[in-house]
Amino acid sequence: MRRKVIAGNWKMNMLPNEAIEYIQSFESMVKSAEAEVILCVPYTDLFYCLLNVQGTNIKIGAQNMHFEENGAYTGEISGKMLKSIGVEYVIIGHSERREYFAETDQTVNKKIKSAFANGLKPIVCVGENLEQRETGIAEEIITKQTELALEGLTNEQVKNTIIAYEPIWAIGTGKTATADDANNSIKWIRNKIAEIYGEEVAKEVIIQYGGSVKSSNAKELFTTSDIDGGLVGGASLKPEEFSKIVNYNK
Ligand code: PGA
Repeated sequence: MRRKVIAGNWKMNMLPNEAIEYIQSFESMVKSAEAEVILCVPYTDLFYCLLNVQGTNIKIGAQNMHFEENGAYTGEISGKMLKSIGVEYVIIGHSERREYFAETDQTVNKKIKSAFANGLKPIVCVGENLEQRETGIAEEIITKQTELALEGLTNEQVKNTIIAYEPIWAIGTGKTATADDANNSIKWIRNKIAEIYGEEVAKEVIIQYGGSVKSSNAKELFTTSDIDGGLVGGASLKPEEFSKIVNYNK
């Protein structure tokens, strides 16, 4: 049985004082959650969040990292740096990074390898845009993205990769994929992983859905056969709303 993993992606929101206040109220709301709870926060909040989640079941992740460990990369943060302060997870290849910051399948692959080399658990985003969905090539796009992202990883690393299937047309738009559609797309991804790495690996990989997840649709999405939780943007910014998503099964 795969566990459910529900991660908030704060994107470029929340100052340290807001982050601390958030955690202070959120912590008690999710303390009996069955799902694993992760907050992926801006770099400037990481240290404050790590201090404030001590002794709770909340895990902390970053939203990006560089694939080199150090060097002349002004403005970048490496996996080694994240690990050194106690970060556990890192989002890699979010569609906003692919779209606005020239992230490619190749940089995504390098970053995943570097995340593992530094003891971080990657949450890797894949997903098609509206035109690709409408022209019927969504399966081809997302299975290719998955294949390229995971290229060269060991079976053990693939098992420990969290994939977030996020159709771009559903991100921040209020349009959610139907539970059936999202579940089907996730099955495509799982089948591709089975084809390359074998059934045993594929059945262990956590694959989340992301794109306008909210408390009103979380249960329907997360109780399908293949959706193993979610990556939640806008609805993770309010502790009450996000706690309802985390506690979708209560
Ligand atoms: P959303 O964002 O929940 O606001 O649609 C999801 C994401 O981009 O990870």
